[in-house]
Amino acid sequence: MRHIMRRFTRPACLLLACLSLALHLLLAVISLSVLQLTCDPLSAITPKAPRILPDAGLTTPRAGLVNPAGVFSGPLTSSGLGHSKLAALFEHPLYTLPRLALQEDDRLLRVKARLQASEVDSSQEWVSDTEDGYDATHWNDSVESHPAWLRFHLGISRWELYDGRDPALPALMEQLATHRIVSAVQKTGGTQLKLVMSFPNYGQALFKPMKQDRNEETNPNLFYFSDFERHNAEIAAFHLDRVLGFRRIPPVVGRLINVTKEIKHITTDRKLARTFYTSPVGNVCFYGQCSYYCSPEHAICGCPTNLEASLAAMLPDLSLAPRRSWRNPWRRSYSRSKLAQWEKDPDFCGTVKKTLPYNKGTRLVDLIDMTILDFLMSNMDRHHYETFEKFGNDTFILIRRSTFLRLRLLSLPQFRLSDVMRESLTLDPLASMAPLLSEPHLIALDRRLSTVLQVVKQCQQQHSTVEAVIFDDLSAHIANSFASGLQKNTSNDQEPWRS
Ligand SMILES: *[C@@H]1O[C@H](CO)[C@@H](O)[C@H](O)[C@H]1NC(C)=O
Ligand SMILES: *[C@@H]1O[C@H](CO)[C@@H](O)[C@H](O)[C@H]1NC(C)=O
Ligand SMILES: *[C@@H]1O[C@H](CO)[C@@H](O)[C@H](O)[C@H]1NC(C)=O
Ligand SMILES: *[C@@H]1O[C@H](CO)[C@@H](O)[C@H](O)[C@H]1NC(C)=O
Repeated sequence: MRHIMRRFTRPACLLLACLSLALHLLLAVISLSVLQLTCDPLSAITPKAPRILPDAGLTTPRAGLVNPAGVFSGPLTSSGLGHSKLAALFEHPLYTLPRLALQEDDRLLRVKARLQASEVDSSQEWVSDTEDGYDATHWNDSVESHPAWLRFHLGISRWELYDGRDPALPALMEQLATHRIVSAVQKTGGTQLKLVMSFPNYGQALFKPMKQDRNEETNPNLFYFSDFERHNAEIAAFHLDRVLGFRRIPPVVGRLINVTKEIKHITTDRKLARTFYTSPVGNVCFYGQCSYYCSPEHAICGCPTNLEASLAAMLPDLSLAPRRSWRNPWRRSYSRSKLAQWEKDPDFCGTVKKTLPYNKGTRLVDLIDMTILDFLMSNMDRHHYETFEKFGNDTFILIRRSTFLRLRLLSLPQFRLSDVMRESLTLDPLASMAPLLSEPHLIALDRRLSTVLQVVKQCQQQHSTVEAVIFDDLSAHIANSFASGLQKNTSNDQEPWRS
């Protein structure tokens, strides 16, 4: 009898042990997947593999991601990439217009003239005291000794923030993406949390963290700007601005930040440091101090320490380059009952056109360029009624000829805005985690672009003269013999207002 019992219990125990082990495993798997879900909703929603590239031969930009030094080579510097729409775009004559010779006061910053040779040792350089974490600097007046951020600052001109072919640009972006962060403090002002991060060579970047899932849509019923600033929108804005040939948005890259190592442990900002905590699922979170959205309900959390963010190159300090902000004549109304002036006055454009500073120079067409960029960028489709109806049917639109021709170029199948944007965004380090803009967003760019072109066309039909709609900014370039070939080419089939 005992013998039988023992023979029975042994397999039963084994079975029980197996069962319990299996249950534990199951529990572990479930809790792991739950943990992962709380940590990284992105990977659960977006498949990582399909990053549709316009051309199968186009694997070079991704290969470049492996080697940080190669991240931003490629179309940025238009080195050989096989067949690439982006590279082809940047080689198009509209993107290689000879630059206007810069006058003395066209540059934002000027390096002070050298002191008399007799007064100063010619080998003199500015050597800083070595501070914690910062490199000793050995800058002299030869450009090669300047760090990339300083070359970027010194290159800013009246017409553009950077030259598309300047080798300092890829160097600057590599710095933003890879250099060690030695300091992170809050930037005051603004409604949402931003940090200023510093690099060992004294370069600085503006940090904006990922606050919501990339694909999350804004509630269209919200009246004020309750939309969170999106880190991927910051990155996409830089790429779009460059693709449109405006070059008025400072370089922005995506970067995976270690919240503990690159913010919490190095910050000297006590107010920021006080807001760190570990969430119940073990993620490192913080919320900082600002006028809105800086509260535990709007905490920014790592996964458990990894946090996606955008890092934008900082513009020169306000003390060196004071700014003036202008009210946008077409700003939205912030009153729930009153319409903005432009929504009521049918001749509003005519009025603005006669008012300083819009009555001379390129200010008005700059504003239109900016509006087109905003319109193409808007995250919600709904926005475009808000932003573009402003030009209505009865008022007018004035658009730079170069802008108009570039928009038309980007509507052609051989360039197509969504294709060049998709390609351009794969150059960002964060693209290896998930596409920075989802397909619907990319396709929306094409749709909005055709809306813009449609509006211009309607305006042309309502005006007898080309000059009423198209602002000729190319004639300055066309005096140049190189550009006369361009004029001939573009005046054949690329000037739709002639047809
Ligand atoms: C500036 O410094 C670099 C190295 O840091 C050196 O090669 C160069 O000769 C220096 N130029 C002048 C004008 O001192
Ligand atoms: C982030 O930094 C902390 C502190 O240095 C370190 O313990 C942790 O392993 C890092 N996380 C990752 C994902 O590297
Ligand atoms: C402008 O004209 C188009 C068609 O001609 C029309 O559908 C649209 O409603 C008009 N928009 C405004 C603001 O009048
Ligand atoms: C103009 O078009 C011709 C052929 O149509 C081409 O060979 C030439 O390079 C073009 N010129 C420019 C400046 O694009």
